[in-house]
Amino acid sequence: MKIPEKFEILVTNGLVDEVVCQLMSGKEADVYVVRSKGELRCAKVYKDAGSRSFSKQAVYQEGRKVRNSRQARAIVKNTRYGRKEQEDAWQNAEVNALQRLASVGVRVPQVFSCVGGILLMELIVDDSGNTAPRLNDVKLTGPQAREFHSVLISQIVLMLCAGLVHGDLSEYNVLVDSNGPVIIDLPQAIDAAGNNNAAGMLQRDVDNMAAYFGRFAPELLTTDYGREIWKLYSTGELSPHVVLTGHYEQSTIPADVGGVMGDVEAVRRWHERHL
Ligand SMILES: Nc1ncnc2c1ncn2[C@@H]1O[C@H](COP(=O)(O)OP(=O)(O)O)[C@@H](O)[C@H]1O
Ligand SMILES: [Mg+2]
Repeated sequence: MKIPEKFEILVTNGLVDEVVCQLMSGKEADVYVVRSKGELRCAKVYKDAGSRSFSKQAVYQEGRKVRNSRQARAIVKNTRYGRKEQEDAWQNAEVNALQRLASVGVRVPQVFSCVGGILLMELIVDDSGNTAPRLNDVKLTGPQAREFHSVLISQIVLMLCAGLVHGDLSEYNVLVDSNGPVIIDLPQAIDAAGNNNAAGMLQRDVDNMAAYFGRFAPELLTTDYGREIWKLYSTGELSPHVVLTGHYEQSTIPADVGGVMGDVEAVRRWHERHL
């Protein structure tokens, strides 16, 4: 096909030789198959920030580190420079997440480069070399659904051990190749420790997986891995090899509200004395 204008820098720099076809046109990105250094690769072209709502970005970006205080001020003021910086931050977040996750053994596409608003990555393919289907396009048996669910729960645990929550995990953001599920689409990945929405996002990711695989294996619908995983994470007990039950016991010990309030008051008084 004719090479879209946006690819110019990549062609000039020898990163892309040919644009083979367009795979998808989504709300936030267009995805192409390209030929690059003799191989078929996947190019994700980000759309302008205008197509994303600011409130959505704010939810995901809480706790993310920006490069410097000039960048931070510009983003807050929403100047043109600020919008450009925010756009770069969004794109870099996906590259950073992909690299961080690959390094801890999460199955994600390998990244080759992110230049000029285009992420160049490994093209995930099926047995016959065709672009891999999305989980949503695969018909599963009960045992397959149980196996994939268990694999994805382990991947969610690995991601959280690396400090990240996917934030948009669904049957549309998982591809299936001959070795099983591969996780994609991470520009909104959330910093688990610094973002107050992380627990809720993790719960949603886990619930999406249970709801999807539950169509083929209904017993998964009553599992509660989300709260179990978050509890282990928040008490520092989560590790990549943790054995999960899929159940969560709500503590029956009544909360000691009076005790906590007393502690808060004591710290407040201590602080006042030391001012
Ligand atoms: N590395 C890849 N290999 C093969 N197909 C991909 C790859 N990355 C994305 N795709 C295809 O492109 C679609 C859109 O990509 P995605 O990263 O989910 O962007 P968005 O959903 O924001 O448009 C995916 O559903 C998938 O079909
Ligand atoms: Mg997607």
